[in-house]
Amino acid sequence: MGKNDWSGFFLVLDGIDGCGKSTQAKKINKYFVSNNIQTLLTAEPSDYDLGKILRKYLQKPEVPASVDALLFAADRIEHCNKEILPLLKKGFIVISDRYRDSSYIYQSIEGRNEGEKIRGVSIDWIKNINKFSLIPDLTIIIDIDPKIGLKRKIKQANNSDKQSLDKFEIDEFQKTIREEFIKIAKNSVVSEEGIHILIDGNESEEEVFRTILRIINSYIKNEFK
Ligand code: TYD
Repeated sequence: MGKNDWSGFFLVLDGIDGCGKSTQAKKINKYFVSNNIQTLLTAEPSDYDLGKILRKYLQKPEVPASVDALLFAADRIEHCNKEILPLLKKGFIVISDRYRDSSYIYQSIEGRNEGEKIRGVSIDWIKNINKFSLIPDLTIIIDIDPKIGLKRKIKQANNSDKQSLDKFEIDEFQKTIREEFIKIAKNSVVSEEGIHILIDGNESEEEVFRTILRIINSYIKNEFK
């Protein structure tokens, strides 16, 4: 899909499990709504059929990385076609809680952990199958200590009857995921994947929010300010 073929702004928040992206995405959304700006707050896996299958597959360690990667890529294409692109074209700010970087990182590490069992789940292949989805205008990666992230997730799971930890929410896995997120954001502030900014998520919720807002304001089009 063509880059920036819209009048809106496509913002992604990403990072390890429990980094605070969902909380911050809600806060950013509330901020824009209170400034009378039209927004879509969304997330991946999506609420479409493939997203629902993915939520089930996230509980099944036996599902190979290749299948997860293909489903996430397909879910993303639907998410873009049905929801994200039409609203970007109407001038909305679209805020997505997770996007392509999660696939590049989670599925390539998942593939790496499968060792010799299944070949070919490389970042390059994952990038290739994701070429039919949109490139965000800005991606903010929230970096935190994986121990804090997991603690938050365990607390969340204990407080809810619906949610249980998924197959990636293990200490060692999260440590590797974090390293890869840092690499993506540090090495490529501007790349063919758009703009990436890494921020420190260990600060207070308010402090992190202020940092995110400052960054968004320095990249967003004037009409949204
Ligand atoms: P998450 O944002 O943690 O959702 P929630 O907090 O609502 O449970 O996402 C669910 C899991 O999906 C998370 O462990 C990361 C994983 N995931 C991938 O492996 N690849 C992807 O492309 C995406 C979008 C998510």
